[in-house]
Amino acid sequence: MPADSVLVRGRLVTLDGPQMARSGEQLRNLSLIDAGAMLFSGGTIQWVGPAADAPNAYEVIDHSGRVITPGLVDAHTHAVFGGNRANEFERRALGATYQEIAAEGGGIQSTVAATRAASEEELVAAGKRYAQWFLTNGTTTLEAKSGYGLTTKDEVKILRAIARLNRETPLDYVPTFLGAHAFPPEFKDNQKGYVDLICNEMLPVIAQEGLAECADAFCEERYFDRAATARVLNRAKELGLKTKLHADQLTLCGGATLAAELRTTTADHLEQTDLAGIRALKKAGVQPVLLPASVYALGLSHYPAARTMIDEGLAVVLASDFNPGSSPTTSLPFVMSLACTHMGMTPAEALIACTINAACALGRGEDRGSLEIGKRADFVVWDCQDPREIAYWIAAPLAQEVYVRGERVFSRARSG
Ligand code: NIG
Ligand code: FE
Repeated sequence: MPADSVLVRGRLVTLDGPQMARSGEQLRNLSLIDAGAMLFSGGTIQWVGPAADAPNAYEVIDHSGRVITPGLVDAHTHAVFGGNRANEFERRALGATYQEIAAEGGGIQSTVAATRAASEEELVAAGKRYAQWFLTNGTTTLEAKSGYGLTTKDEVKILRAIARLNRETPLDYVPTFLGAHAFPPEFKDNQKGYVDLICNEMLPVIAQEGLAECADAFCEERYFDRAATARVLNRAKELGLKTKLHADQLTLCGGATLAAELRTTTADHLEQTDLAGIRALKKAGVQPVLLPASVYALGLSHYPAARTMIDEGLAVVLASDFNPGSSPTTSLPFVMSLACTHMGMTPAEALIACTINAACALGRGEDRGSLEIGKRADFVVWDCQDPREIAYWIAAPLAQEVYVRGERVFSRARSG
């Protein structure tokens, strides 16, 4: 028995199943072991099964009756930025729309100004505060985008801050380059010039330094049209990066069909996507990443058609879209709640969409997203007895303990 072997007992949501993103019937199968136990050592899961059959271990942690799930995986965040947008939040409460504020030079541009003004050190300090929020909500892996710098120097600064957060917090960060998030003020009248800068300078530097795994673009009216988006993502692919895009968030502008044509790993948002777009994603094997907290936080009512996507056989992912403008939340349980109340997803589907399906969307399906032998011992002990409660209780502090690679990195009891 290795001296670091630990056995944890609880109601295990193992998600044991096919080694791929789940769709159809598999999207409802939690593979629950009611009186379960999991043995881990060296940060890796060694054994999972009924507590009655459990092997001996050096240490036993008894959470019998409490739900234990894999660590949550957040496949879409903008987690590094300067300042906040509480002023715009108040203005929207008084009737201004997101697009009106953006047209006046606010929105993304105001966060770009604050992020340019911040040092790497300041971005890391702010990022650590948000990292703690992610952890206390049960997230253990997250994707994080640049996109609030929009110069080579500032995009690199954000990606370096993400690399430091990856080293200096318990969370695992997967970095994405989003230089094509908006046109910066200095390129307002020269959009082609900015796309040239992304393709000829930013992407080569970032690929060379290994600062991002993936490139993303905001394909939207008044932002990057289909041609500009395709140019950026094709260049990224040439340089060995994976690709994804913000598609059909505010208008149905061909984002989903472009994702299918380019065979990106995921297509994200999809609030306005129609059946043709959904079928194109299915045919091309592109995973949809749905971000209902941004619909909620902008006070909108048009949620993405998750039920149709599931019925069409897509392996749906849910993510927070954490950012200071359209989605100021780090809580995947809250996102799951929205998916159940506004998108017709079941609590089991929502949980799978935030674990194994999200891990697969980030190319991390082999080592996380389920509680199976050989995977990382990343898991959450929830203060509830029924896995449906994770999505059911709104904004309750249910995540009681969080483990990353077998280390307890958060304990609500200890945090007082
Ligand atoms: O995913 N849509 C583009 N980007 C973000 C919003 C960014 C912002 O408002 O700062 C999103 O919603
Ligand atoms: Fe986003």
